[in-house]
Amino acid sequence: MHKIVLFAFIFCYSLQVNAVIKSSTNVDSLLSVMTLDEKIGQMTQMCFSTITLDGSKSLDLNVDNFKQLIKQQHIGSFLSGSDSYAKWFDFVTAIQKVAVEETRLGIPLIIGIDHVHGANYINEGTIFPHNLMMACSFDKTLIEKVAKVTAIETAPVGLSWNFSPVLDVARTPYWPRFYETFGEDSRVCAELGSAYIKAYQYVPEIAPYKLSACAKHFIGYSDPKYGYDRSPSEIPMQTLHEVFMPPFRKAFEAGVKTLMVNSGELNGEPVHGSKFLLDTLLRRQLGFNGVIVTDIKDIERIVKMHHTAANEKEATLQVINAGVDMYMACNSYTFIQHVKELLSEGKLSMAQIDASVRRILQLKKELGLFENPYPSKKLLDAVNTTENRKVALEAAEKSIVLLKNEDILPLDKSKKLLIAGIGANSKRMLNGPWSFDWLGAAEAQQPQNMLTLFEACKSTFGTNNVLLSKTERILSPADKKQFLKDTRKADVIVLAVGEQPYSEFMGNINDLTLDADQLELIDAAIATKKPVVLVLMEGRPRVITKQAAGVKAVLFAGYPGIEGAQAIANILSGKTNPSASLAFSYPLAAGHTIPYNHKPSEFNIYWKPEPAQKWLYPFGHGLSYTQFEYSDLQLSDTIITPNGTLKASVKIKNAGKIRGTETALWYIKDEVGSISRPVKSLKFFEKIDLNSGEEKTIHFEINPQQHLAFPDKAGLYRLEPGRYQLIIDNKSLWFSLNN
Ligand code: GLC
Repeated sequence: MHKIVLFAFIFCYSLQVNAVIKSSTNVDSLLSVMTLDEKIGQMTQMCFSTITLDGSKSLDLNVDNFKQLIKQQHIGSFLSGSDSYAKWFDFVTAIQKVAVEETRLGIPLIIGIDHVHGANYINEGTIFPHNLMMACSFDKTLIEKVAKVTAIETAPVGLSWNFSPVLDVARTPYWPRFYETFGEDSRVCAELGSAYIKAYQYVPEIAPYKLSACAKHFIGYSDPKYGYDRSPSEIPMQTLHEVFMPPFRKAFEAGVKTLMVNSGELNGEPVHGSKFLLDTLLRRQLGFNGVIVTDIKDIERIVKMHHTAANEKEATLQVINAGVDMYMACNSYTFIQHVKELLSEGKLSMAQIDASVRRILQLKKELGLFENPYPSKKLLDAVNTTENRKVALEAAEKSIVLLKNEDILPLDKSKKLLIAGIGANSKRMLNGPWSFDWLGAAEAQQPQNMLTLFEACKSTFGTNNVLLSKTERILSPADKKQFLKDTRKADVIVLAVGEQPYSEFMGNINDLTLDADQLELIDAAIATKKPVVLVLMEGRPRVITKQAAGVKAVLFAGYPGIEGAQAIANILSGKTNPSASLAFSYPLAAGHTIPYNHKPSEFNIYWKPEPAQKWLYPFGHGLSYTQFEYSDLQLSDTIITPNGTLKASVKIKNAGKIRGTETALWYIKDEVGSISRPVKSLKFFEKIDLNSGEEKTIHFEINPQQHLAFPDKAGLYRLEPGRYQLIIDNKSLWFSLNN
């Protein structure tokens, strides 16, 4: 009799479970039938290297390892790999099938990837300029296009979770992740970051597939005190709210579904273990209710780097109590066991676990993974198309900044060019880091169907007009001799200098000055008295002050992506009129870096005038092959009330001979504040296309809450009566805010 009852119970229970799975739209019902192991497995994210045959990122599945992780450890998420579409497709199909068809509840996996500048971990992916360069475009529409192509090229292989965009505001160019940010201005980071998120998370073309972006790295990661990656940040709370918080606030308004935590320490606390930052501030004050994922192996870092826990079990308690939902364990297998022990010891509650698992299941549901867990062959038709490459070319052309031009550009096509330097004939320098490999794949693994700068110049200026010098650096007298010999046949010397790709802590430096052997190459070129054009391929502004004075032109190309060479050649030839502006301040000296919106600290009040020049090239600087003239700045009134608005307008004329695009940057200076105020702050920006001779009136509506208020150290925004100065180009007008 007992056996019959038991059989009947098991049969009914399994019917209930199957009913739950089928009605997987009900997260709470699914949660109600999950075992503890299944729940903690959902909170655990492993690296693909734990389930590939050779433990690398190439996608050859180690089926036994994988099945063990899925069936015994119930792992709910994986991240990071790099391979072809075909391999990705088969790999993700195989692992999802096991998760969905061979486990008790069939909960689909969610797979994370760092597609931070295009589908950069797919061999055939379209690679865009990194965010720092994109920020120099100041073009939200362009950001949306790039996000959309990235989504369209990511979705077909079931990579539902993109650990992008970086929303950190870059305040020190020493930081090796400078190029991953949208620059030094909080509003630019907020506007471009949220534009990316909205475009990435909503792409009708890939329906029914949906993708999640990831706001990272919360918070205070990008102002490390020592300049080194993950070195401590000490940021006053008022500054944290005014400078570093707005991009995250805007991302939450944009509906970002997930957030990744900063690996570093902020004001003495590892952010991963900070209940104040992740619960009080992030969840309760800012109202973020999406999934919070750690950065990679950051429970270990709490023990081994921050030393705020004696062991990983204590660190696990800190991190979960702080409010993290998922641990990016990568290849660490102790998390699950530690959580179970902490629960049995009563140090963690099942309510905490359930809250996290509920958010993770909700995310999978919102992304449609229960209904569509498998990759889609149909969507493969839209990857790596000519159209996508056109967007990459447009993105590169609109993000390359012309910093200096002493009547040399555009180049006369009859001139013989010599191309030299580390970026002269390199694809890796163009695609940069996070391209087919974390540090940027070796030259041989870079895409076949892309040009180097030398090749693009040949196709643009004619094969017989372009020579390549094999000299990349001057390391010896022989190098110099060879280089000078190469320059003899050239009319113009184009030097592609900068930084070999690097990522995170691998890019830590002690001196912002460009390498001596590259500076020597530039000096040797200048000494020939022939015109020199510098093309900077770098992730941060390396100091080149003396050399910049001696060359005829300077272009900041950063890491311009798969079409970067053609974009540079098009600008050198004049086919494209440069239109970008610096989204960061280019330092004069290695020992002194200062953002444009610094506090007024100079002693120009009493005895010493302000430094004549604070930067080599200031924030917002960018030249064109035409000239723009501003005139007739007007305000609808000189008085504004807290709930009123003021309408500003200014005329911009293209006074040159060719069509061009201007970046209009509207700043406001708050004359007196109860908290010291920056010398000026960017409040609005837009791009203006003008034909030769054309004049347009552009507008900016000043809204006190959006443009005049600032937060106190509690993050509460205050609006203070007083005088404000509206600034655009070299024009300005004062107005007053009354109570
Ligand atoms: C890295 C980075 C983070 C990235 C993650 C997954 O350490 O800090 O930005 O998304 O690991 O690759």
